[in-house]
Order: sequence, then structure tokens, then C-alpha cells
Amino acid sequence: MKDCNKSSDCSGRREFLVKTAGLAGGLVLTLSGIGSAFGVTFADVTVNIDSSSPLNKVGGSVVVDSSAGKIVIARTGEAAFIAYSAKCTHKGGIVEYDAAGKQFVCPKHGSKFDAANGNVTDGPADTKLTSFAANGTAASVTVTVG
Ligand code: FES
Repeated sequence: MKDCNKSSDCSGRREFLVKTAGLAGGLVLTLSGIGSAFGVTFADVTVNIDSSSPLNKVGGSVVVDSSAGKIVIARTGEAAFIAYSAKCTHKGGIVEYDAAGKQFVCPKHGSKFDAANGNVTDGPADTKLTSFAANGTAASVTVTVG
């Protein structure tokens, strides 16, 4: 278990690697529909999937930026996707998709979240991940943020 009080454990290298992988992987993000809630405007996110994208295979996942913060998108079937806020509800770590365990795991302190509904299955987090609708094909996935 990592010490979350050390800022060096909270971000940095991991986020850099995710961003770099996204750029190198040929991900193309586009903003589509615009929605709003409580006076804040959110834009849907579309991720195009090419042969080098982690989403090209079932079990792959990516973390993308959106107007609602970082979102983790995982491919659970040929044309089935799930999307949740990537920000751990404990202290803000960026969760990772564990396809074999059908869960999201926070690398900071080990919290685990059920991939089916975002519920906490292991603490220290005590609040579920926020879910988003994700609809896609083999070629792209759109996450409804608004
Ligand atoms: S930030 Fe502590 S478990 Fe995720």
C-alpha cells in the first residue's frame, strides 16, 4: 500500500505514460454532443479505435480527458464498452481496468471497484465510481458525458 500523503505517489509518471500511450496509439478523440447539468456544460467524447489502440482488443482500456475529468473506457465485448470516472473516490488516484478480475483497481492504496456497476469491493474508498453510458463498434466508442 502506498502512502497517499506523498505527492509523488499521486500522479505524474503514470499520467504521463497514459497520455504518451494515447498519442502513440493513434487514438483520436473528438467531441460530439453537448450536454449540461447544474449550469456546467459537458461534451461527449468519441474515441476512434485503430489497430494500435488498446481498445482494439476485448479487455483493453484507455483513460481519456473530458469536460467531466478523466474517464476510463474499457472494452468488455466485441461491441460492448463501459466507462467510469477514472478518478478514485478515495484520494484521486487514476484507476486501472483489470479485465481478468472484471474490476477497476486504484494503484495508490488498492481500492477496488466492480466493473459492472462501479461499486466499491475493497477499500479504503467508500464511494462508488461515477458511470457514463458508452456505446460503440469495433471502430469507435462514444461516451455520453452530459
Ligand atoms: S486514492 Fe487511495 S485508494 Fe485510490
